[in-house]
Amino acid sequence: MASLTEEISRRRTFAIISHPDAGKTTLTEKLLLYSGMIRTAGMVAGRKGRKAATSDWMSMEQERGISITASAMQFEYRGCKINILDTPGHQDFSEDTYRTLTAADSVIMVIDCAKGVETQTLKLFAACRLRGIPVLTFVNKMDMYGKSPIDLMEEIEQTLGIPASPMNWPIGGGKEFQGVVDRRDNCFEFYTRTAAGGALKPEVTRVPADQVVPNERMSAVELQALKDELELLDIAGNAFNRDDYLNFKVTPVFFGSAFTNFGVEPLFDALIDLAPCPTSRKADLPAGSETKIPVENDFSGYVFKLQANMNPKHRDCIAFLRINSGRYERDMQVLQHRTGKRLRLAGPQTLLAAERQSLEEAFPGDVIGVINTNGLAIGDTISIKGGFEYKPLPKFQPELFARISPVDLGKRKQIDRGMEQLAAEGTVQLIREFRDTYSYPYVAAVGRLQFEVLQHRLEEEYGVPTKLEMLPFSCSCWLIGQPDTFKLPFGAKLAQDNAERPMVLFSSTWEKDYARRENPDHQLLDHA
Ligand code: G4P
Repeated sequence: MASLTEEISRRRTFAIISHPDAGKTTLTEKLLLYSGMIRTAGMVAGRKGRKAATSDWMSMEQERGISITASAMQFEYRGCKINILDTPGHQDFSEDTYRTLTAADSVIMVIDCAKGVETQTLKLFAACRLRGIPVLTFVNKMDMYGKSPIDLMEEIEQTLGIPASPMNWPIGGGKEFQGVVDRRDNCFEFYTRTAAGGALKPEVTRVPADQVVPNERMSAVELQALKDELELLDIAGNAFNRDDYLNFKVTPVFFGSAFTNFGVEPLFDALIDLAPCPTSRKADLPAGSETKIPVENDFSGYVFKLQANMNPKHRDCIAFLRINSGRYERDMQVLQHRTGKRLRLAGPQTLLAAERQSLEEAFPGDVIGVINTNGLAIGDTISIKGGFEYKPLPKFQPELFARISPVDLGKRKQIDRGMEQLAAEGTVQLIREFRDTYSYPYVAAVGRLQFEVLQHRLEEEYGVPTKLEMLPFSCSCWLIGQPDTFKLPFGAKLAQDNAERPMVLFSSTWEKDYARRENPDHQLLDHA
């Protein structure tokens, strides 16, 4: 049996972040192809027909009309155990997407070479910065015409505020894209399209730079220009240093095309060679302590997501735990810190695409789904011996706000109970007008889907059909300082969250920035 240290060092737990359509699903599928999990790619269609891989969960759940949240899957690649956490992008974007990121040790950020850094990527990147999660960047769709690589590097640095260090450099672009130059040894990697398109691995030929000759898709002039660019990068580009990457001071950049598989292998190899294995993370410090819990300690972990109704027949709720330390063994008794109760974690499962397999053991970095018969809540710490609690998960600034009320006004009690419970599960955040504890709370979310799930569950589980009315706010902040002396802009509103922390709701980011300038004695925080 492998030792605990061996198991930890061969784990890579990561999430892919991107704006919808940048190619996250396609890249995930290619990782399955390269790891041998699937024999041919192309099962995962794009948005038009998602069928397999991670998103297959979502489509299954959608078909059944139940909640859609991020999932995890595990498989082997180059001797490592890979855990991919799925962070839904499209209309499924929600607070769960952010919370799932907290369970990742690293992130691959996918950028569409024609579109550059887009809004959702910016938001998710900010969440990575908050937790110090190291980011590998993949510039995708190089087989399409896009921005120049130099412009893209500049855009990453300026928009995201992190130095970018190209690990390889594209040979041509659009129809002329034929591979990448590995900057470590200055070798040109030429890829040959197979008859099967991107369904199979392409052939790769490595040629040292000084032996490369022009070809039908690269003239002598173009080859010289590329060599000049590489020389310029050597002199003026950001150097790469693994420690800087691990400490969020640089992002290594890879170019490629997930669709044709060109340049995906160097990225996957970096995941194994550069990305960190689970460690005692600073972001996981126990609350109120500066002493990290070593990964080799006894078993401990925390709940980062609850997913209700995965099986409508059983109305079950699955709690997803990230293991932070020690070995998990089946039928283990654990302590829930918040309640002090001893629990047996029921029916732990490992998640591989659509299949759930029963789990015998698991290690730091792994995600296990347990049937939540124990009242586990988001952020709960569980461990063998107890005595500590991991830092609470950050709450992210909601951007959508609504007033919700029962169609039948006689159902006040049921809706109050339902909303409290669903908010505790993290379905939505509840916000009240400042110092008003009687009126119906507002519901707040980072994605529209959260409202749909809330309404669906209030009706199904609490028997309360509801009406939802959107409110004209688009961002919010937590307020530090005296609320009574805060100068409120015209369209803004003072509010409080469920823990009675003062908040301000704004109709635009412009208004928020204005309020910041007008209230230098107060602080406005984007997360709590
Ligand atoms: P997402 O999960 O980030 O939302 O993106 P997804 O992988 O679904 O890709 C979005 C679209 O972009 C898909 O096309 C996909 O085929 C395409 N795509 C992904 N990577 C590349 C690439 O490297 N090059 C090119 N040219 N296209 C790429 P679609 O038309 O929406 O779906 P489909 O019908 O082609 O499957």
